[in-house]
Parts: sequence; structure tokens; C-alpha cells
Amino acid sequence: MTAVESSAPTLPELAALADTSLDTIVSLQDPSGAYPASPTFSAYRGYSWFRDGAFIADGVSAWGGVDSANRFHAWCSRILVSRREQIGRIVEAAAAGTPVPDAEMLPTRFTFAGGEGADEWWDFQLDGYGTWLWAVVEHGNRHAVELAPWQDAIDLAVDYLVSSWRRPCFDWWEERAEEVHVSTLGCIAAGLAAVGPTLTGERALAARLAVQEIRALIRQDGLSNGHLSKWIGSPEVDASLLSVIRPLGVFPADGSIGTETIAAIDSQLNVDGGVHRYLADTFFGGGQWPLLSCFLGLALLGAGDRDRALDQLRWAASTATPEGDLPEQVDRHLLAPHMRQEWVDRWGTVATPLLWSHGMYLRLAADLGLRGAA
Ligand code: BGC
Repeated sequence: MTAVESSAPTLPELAALADTSLDTIVSLQDPSGAYPASPTFSAYRGYSWFRDGAFIADGVSAWGGVDSANRFHAWCSRILVSRREQIGRIVEAAAAGTPVPDAEMLPTRFTFAGGEGADEWWDFQLDGYGTWLWAVVEHGNRHAVELAPWQDAIDLAVDYLVSSWRRPCFDWWEERAEEVHVSTLGCIAAGLAAVGPTLTGERALAARLAVQEIRALIRQDGLSNGHLSKWIGSPEVDASLLSVIRPLGVFPADGSIGTETIAAIDSQLNVDGGVHRYLADTFFGGGQWPLLSCFLGLALLGAGDRDRALDQLRWAASTATPEGDLPEQVDRHLLAPHMRQEWVDRWGTVATPLLWSHGMYLRLAADLGLRGAA
């Protein structure tokens, strides 16, 4: 046995980190139900994102945290219902051919009290609403949780997305508001497809049609060399595209789009298990994100490669601090080392713990069957 093998964490150790991850998330969950993105990081403190939160809730649910996930979904649901009028205006304006400006669309993050907060942000992002719909249904199916209490909010999110999915908006990384991002489209399609069975009448038809149109648009204009592309018309990849394969399941991991997308991201963005966001990334020097290593693990597992999926979990585990906190990124391999200090000066050291990293760790550990192995 080599030195590396002997120091690799065992399955019980990996499962123990998942138990710690669940504890970390639950202990930091706000009494309102909101999951803070990162409790102490200057730019995120006091806010909960629909994107991060939906994936966190999914990981928590997969690791057995039924009540915590329920409380997050109830929090999202209250926010959507409280914005019924705003959503109504957005939907009407879109139908009239006079869409509201980006600043009047729903924000990507909220204070725990459900407000928008006073800080400027790159707020118009559609993906989180789709991912939330998907996560609610995953949770409901996994634990036989009744979705009826959240149906109003589900309907509102569906109306919002059906009216606006064609709009360019900021991507997962809160960049490039002028583009239509393929991972954003994937999140929307996954959400609308997941809630389909809960919908009735015209809303059900409209959601089904939107899913068909999104999938057709991706197939026609959202591919490059057979893999999903970063945005419509881009030849590049972005690691967020892995989500569209797994866990969102818009395209199967072992089909041609899944295979090509995994291969492109694996060869371009994965360095020794640590996955970069995209090649031109300069944020904190453009390091490797454990949550993206877990997305790659999920996609590989979906494609049948359990060994490599487990390696990806091990890599994510290797980024934990001695206290068991997972960071947003690590600087073992930087794409733009000269840019790191600028971000540290601006926002402080890398967000740690990042709850989304813990959430993705939970989902991959659960899918690898490690629950109860500690
Ligand atoms: C990331 C987003 C994330 C947010 C909160 C940002 O730096 O780009 O994807 O939602 O942090 O974690």
C-alpha cells in the first residue's frame, strides 16, 4: 500500500464528515428556516440564496434531515407567496410584450426575514427558482412529504419561470447578465418538469411546453462539440453544467450529451479531483471548488463510475478544516494566482464554512450509500 492510499479517509471517516456536515448546516440554519450561505463571510453574511439553499436542502434531505429541509422549503414558500403581486406584474408585463426591467425581477438572495437587504448585488438570476422547484419534489418523493402546503408557492414560481425563462440573466457565478446560460436553462427545465404532476389546467400545459422548448433550445443552440456550452453560442464549458446531468437529470449521464459534457469538464476543469468553475475564472485567483468536485462525482456516479465518484468525495473531504468546515474554494491550483490577494483584500479570506459545499457533500455521500456508515 502506498503512503497516499494509507492516508486516504476510510468510508466511515467520509460518512462521519457527512454527519458533521449535517450538524453544521442544521446548527447554522436560521429560526426562519433560511440557510445562510456562509455565516461569517463579509459579502454573504445575513443572506440566503435560493440556489445554494435548494441544493443544501436537497443534501440535507438525502442525509435524513427531513425537518430542516421542510423548514427551508416553508421559508422559500413564504417568500414567494409574499411576492404574489410582484410576480403577477412580471407575468402580465411579459404576456403584454413589455417585460419589466431586470431590477424588478425577483432577487437571487434574501435576508432571513425575507427582504432584499441594503447591499448591492448581481441580483437577477433565474436558476434558483427552478432548482427550488426540483428540490421540493425530490424531498417530497424521498420522504413522502405532502407538497400541498407549498402548492401556492410552486404555482407562483412556475408562472414566473414560464413567463421569463428566455430572458438573459446572471449565471450561477453572478456574471454575464447579457447571456442566456445553459445551466440556468437546465435548472428551470428540471424544476418545471419535476412539479408537472402537481399542476393543473393551463399552468400544467404551459409548464410542459416550456420544458419542451428549453430542451429543444439547448439541443439546437446550447451545444458545442456535442457538450453543453456555458451559454447559448459559447464554445466553452462551465462546471455548473454538470448539475444539468446530475442531480437535475435533464440529460442522462450515459447519453451522448451527458458523456461529452462530463468528458469536457473532466479534461478541462478537473485538476487531481479539484474542479474549477471555468477556465477564465479569476475570483480569489480561480481555485478549486469542493462543491463542484461533488457535482462531478454525482455525474460520474450517474454514468456508472462509482470508484471515481468516491475519489471525488475524498477530494472534497480533503478540503475540510480540522473542525470539519468545508470552504467555498481552495488555492491548491489557481488559474489566476495574481488575482487572489485582490479578493482577499476586498472581501477577506475564502468563505468557510460554505453551507452549499456541505450540502453537495451530503448529496454525493448519500448517493454513494454512505449513510449510516460512520
Ligand atoms: C457564488 C454564487 C453563490 C454565492 C453564495 C458566490 O460567490 O458565485 O454561486 O450563490 O457566492 O454562496
